[in-house]
Amino acid sequence: MKRIFSGIKPTGHLTLGNYLGALRRWVEVDQHRADALFSVVDLHALTVEHDPARVRRLSRQAAALMLAAGLDPERCTVFVQSHVDAHTRLSYLLECTATDGELRRMIQYKEKGTRARAAGQSVRLSLLTYPVLMAADILAHGTDEVPVGEDQTQHVELTRDLALRFNQRYGHVFTVPRATHPPVAARVMDLQDPTSKMGKSHEPGNGIVYLLDDPDTTRKKVMRAVTDSGSEVRYDREESPGVTNLLEILAACSGGDPAELAGAYRSYGDLKRDTADAVVELLRPVRERHAELASDGGGYVDEVLRAGAERASALARPRVDAAYAAVGLLPAG
Ligand code: AMP
Ligand code: TRP
Repeated sequence: MKRIFSGIKPTGHLTLGNYLGALRRWVEVDQHRADALFSVVDLHALTVEHDPARVRRLSRQAAALMLAAGLDPERCTVFVQSHVDAHTRLSYLLECTATDGELRRMIQYKEKGTRARAAGQSVRLSLLTYPVLMAADILAHGTDEVPVGEDQTQHVELTRDLALRFNQRYGHVFTVPRATHPPVAARVMDLQDPTSKMGKSHEPGNGIVYLLDDPDTTRKKVMRAVTDSGSEVRYDREESPGVTNLLEILAACSGGDPAELAGAYRSYGDLKRDTADAVVELLRPVRERHAELASDGGGYVDEVLRAGAERASALARPRVDAAYAAVGLLPAG
């Protein structure tokens, strides 16, 4: 059976981008067609300045939202990355496989590093090595497919390169994975700045729809979305980024095709209204189930995470042990 692995970092409240770019397909497609593992990748939240209490809170909330969105612990494994030692254990071997040049070329490192320096902050070494830990997350589980938004393509390419290089040097240990993306909305843009990604760790503002926003707030954010200077509804990312983003969101919510939808609208106002309605209805059940899960004090979520970590550890250990043996480290006993 195919193995699928993906993760979400607890660096902020989950957004519509996370949902349309990743989570919804995990729920609707991936957990039904493969042995799938989904992780709250908390170690990745420590690569930039962070508040420990907030990371703890957001980790629980991300796990609860993954279940509220419909991940079913009977069908897939949901766990927290730091509960499974195999990931960091493997990461070191992959640091001995990757080169520093390779990591310095990563777009996210360049962008986030530049931002941190501009804000007068130091850049943590883990921001540079983070894609290696991500590769370890993926390779430890013998993953075939990694369902992610488009922003993660470069990291999955690196993971493939590391798997191939390791296998060539030391013998076949790792499956070489590939990234998969949703057919539309693989890159949901900020509603106020449609040339940049809707990102959960960005400054909160009207451009970001959070999964836990109430319907009124969601509606207002969509209605206030920045559109383009013309008045024609066009599907064109370069020339009409704002309208194109709305068309993609509407298409993802309603199952339509964004280019065809463009032909059905005469005004930006109608497009915004329909998109706002579609997003509110799409998120309603997720918010409701999240409220139910939160009302039992998190006991159910904690139990799912405990069982998930146990299964993920058992799954990863033999492959990571094999990698340790392959590079020439003495077995412990
Ligand atoms: P992150 O928020 O970086 O932890 O991302 C978790 C998952 O959501 C990854 O698969 C990302 O590619 C995806 N994702 C995050 N933001 C967006 C976005 N604006 N559009 C599409 N996918 C996204
Ligand atoms: N780097 C991913 C992101 O920023 C999160 C992530 C960490 C991940 N490990 C992963 C995604 C493994 C897929 C598989 O979104």
